[in-house]
Amino acid sequence: MTQWWQRAVIYQVYPQSFQDSNGDGIGDLKGLIQRLDYLQKLGIDAIWLSPVYQSPGQDNGYDISDYQAINPQFGTMADLEALIRQAKARDIRIIMDLVVNHTSDEHRWFKVSRQSRANPYRDYYIWRDGKDGKEPNNWGSCFSGPAWDYDEETDMYYLHLFSKKQPDLNWDNPKVREEVFDMMNWWLEKGVDGFRMDVISLISKQPDLPDGKPGINGYASFNEPANGPHVHEYLQEMREKVLNNADTITVGECSGVTLEEAKKYARSDEKELNMVFQFEHMDVDADADNKWTDKKMDLREMKAVLTKWQKGLEDIAWNSLFWENHDQPRSVSRYADDSAKYHDVSAKMLATCIHMMQGTPYVYQGEELGMTNVPFTSIDQFRDLDSINAYRELVEEQHVFTAEEMMRYLCRKSRDNARTPFQWDDSAYAGFSTVEPWIMVNPNYKEINAKKQVDDPESVFNYYRKLIALRKEKEIIVYGTYDLLLPESEEIYMYTRTLGEEKLLVVCNFSEKEVAVEIPEEFCKGSYLIANYPEGEIKEQMTIRPYEAFVLEK
Ligand code: GLC
Ligand code: CA
Repeated sequence: MTQWWQRAVIYQVYPQSFQDSNGDGIGDLKGLIQRLDYLQKLGIDAIWLSPVYQSPGQDNGYDISDYQAINPQFGTMADLEALIRQAKARDIRIIMDLVVNHTSDEHRWFKVSRQSRANPYRDYYIWRDGKDGKEPNNWGSCFSGPAWDYDEETDMYYLHLFSKKQPDLNWDNPKVREEVFDMMNWWLEKGVDGFRMDVISLISKQPDLPDGKPGINGYASFNEPANGPHVHEYLQEMREKVLNNADTITVGECSGVTLEEAKKYARSDEKELNMVFQFEHMDVDADADNKWTDKKMDLREMKAVLTKWQKGLEDIAWNSLFWENHDQPRSVSRYADDSAKYHDVSAKMLATCIHMMQGTPYVYQGEELGMTNVPFTSIDQFRDLDSINAYRELVEEQHVFTAEEMMRYLCRKSRDNARTPFQWDDSAYAGFSTVEPWIMVNPNYKEINAKKQVDDPESVFNYYRKLIALRKEKEIIVYGTYDLLLPESEEIYMYTRTLGEEKLLVVCNFSEKEVAVEIPEEFCKGSYLIANYPEGEIKEQMTIRPYEAFVLEK
């Protein structure tokens, strides 16, 4: 079982923030095409393209009104075809974002669906009568408030696990599945190479839609319906009717997924998906069902979670490896130290830690430069509806947090930390656009930008490049068995990889302390594969410097 996607490194592009080509302050497809040489230089194998479909843009494209049209703000279908061609010419594949748990309320299907209780599209969505004049159950939307919206037209409620402009599709209706499968086949015929499937673990709902345990705002988590009774059946049907038609790569975004469920989604006999995104390691610095907190990541817990996934899927399924995406804050600020003194070693340390594990690594745009969280000072600077709605609900309506507290949490956790323009150079607007962009540029763009890093052999960019190249050279990085050492250390993440006679030792210091570590004897005569500090002598007792990371080969 060796597959190209197991050896691949995937780069996520959030097109709205990557490169603007026509001076409207919004990133677009032509801009992305202009930057393909940069991505080729980095050495990535595929681009996961966040949504570029027709959309009113309420959730930046995760609210789709036409799956077979391109949002004019991003360009045209011809631009997308050019992207596929130009990427192929550089051996880069294109993975589309497939957002089919829900559509936009402006999708043709929903417009008809809401018109009457009996129309051919009524059953494309999830309509229910109210209960005692209220919502049918206590589920909350991921973006605050209830997961139901009352529609006067027909005196019923529709379900939306996300915003009310994102009504959930009814996957129990075979016509919905046929529509989605036809659309996917249409995209495969266009030459795309696979799909990242948005919240795919939520598509099958429990038939009786039971109440769940209320969270801090009084509603049950949007994850309540995760891994419903028919989800595996529907994905197996998708495998047969669509995915087997081409050499595809598939990754399912599976919020609320357990190890046992993941084994079903991503089993290596390829009945469903190739791999899943699980989010347990993203919850280490969150409270149960509440990400808005100051809680710091506890490294022991982080190691326990990642190790559980590394060992749990070994020989059975396949992991995806990530610290960042468009829904998460920047990892260098979140888990290490983004101050000038430690920024570079921190970013390289995090990269070493995740890229040396078993699975397929994902790099989120700007992560390869060590882009940081943003010093937002006012709620007006945010664009993300998750952040804006949470502020309104938790500060203004429910007084769960003060404004100051919430601003602190937003600066730590808001999705907008990852959505500011890509920092290309030190010119106005970081070279992203010639006009003021749709969201502010991180003021640190003069220090952190691609232009400065691409030609500097010591840069974070070139460190990523090296990690990606190493994965291509060394089978052990792809397939070696993972084993954790020092589980109790609060500072050091240390693990081995083993393939036949070969062995690697990965050592990462997640703290600014100098930490004494015992190096297993078998590595003491070994050599460095990569390191983020000048290489010291390898010996049994080593002092690991602040945020130091290195990999030893036996
Ligand atoms: C996924 C996306 C996120 C989006 C949500 C609703 O979690 O990654 O950006 O808001 O689904 O589509
Ligand atoms: Ca543009």
